[in-house]
Amino acid sequence: MTREKKAFPQLLATALLMLAGWQAAAQDVKRGEKVFADCRACHTIDPGANNIGPSLAGIIGRKAATVDGFRYSPAMKRSGIIWDKDTLAAFIADPQKAVPANRMPYAGMPEPKDVADLIAYLTQAGVSAK
Ligand code: HEC
Repeated sequence: MTREKKAFPQLLATALLMLAGWQAAAQDVKRGEKVFADCRACHTIDPGANNIGPSLAGIIGRKAATVDGFRYSPAMKRSGIIWDKDTLAAFIADPQKAVPANRMPYAGMPEPKDVADLIAYLTQAGVSAK
């Protein structure tokens, strides 16, 4: 990959952040539901339904490693992260960079548009789960 091509997704991510103000358009939510296929093997959005990974119901605004009954890694427990749109975006894009030594076996999502739509979906899923 050339340097120009690498810089583009980062620019796009920044532009998306600024432009959208992270307001989730219905279309993005729908697309995000499809992107969630990447996570579905290990996560549900149903409250209390832990799988290989913890339930992601109501993830926005929640402190990391606080789902009852899930055994988190020491790294995740120590992270002190509050999951908002920015911390989630960083984690989904590159889990090991955002929380070194965490135990989520996921390499990261390279496409900022996918990450943004996925977060739009998770935001809405959290709201409807309450
Ligand atoms: C192969 C299984 C697997 C996949 C795929 C996966 N995860 Fe995870 N996820 C985990 C595990 C295991 C943890 C707990 C990590 C730890 O404790 O270090 C976790 C933790 C998390 C957390 C922290 C939750 C909390 O309660 O603090 C978030 C957020 C998360 N995953 C989001 C996602 C998203 C979004 C995707 C899809 C892009 C995804 N994960 C894909 C297994 C997975």
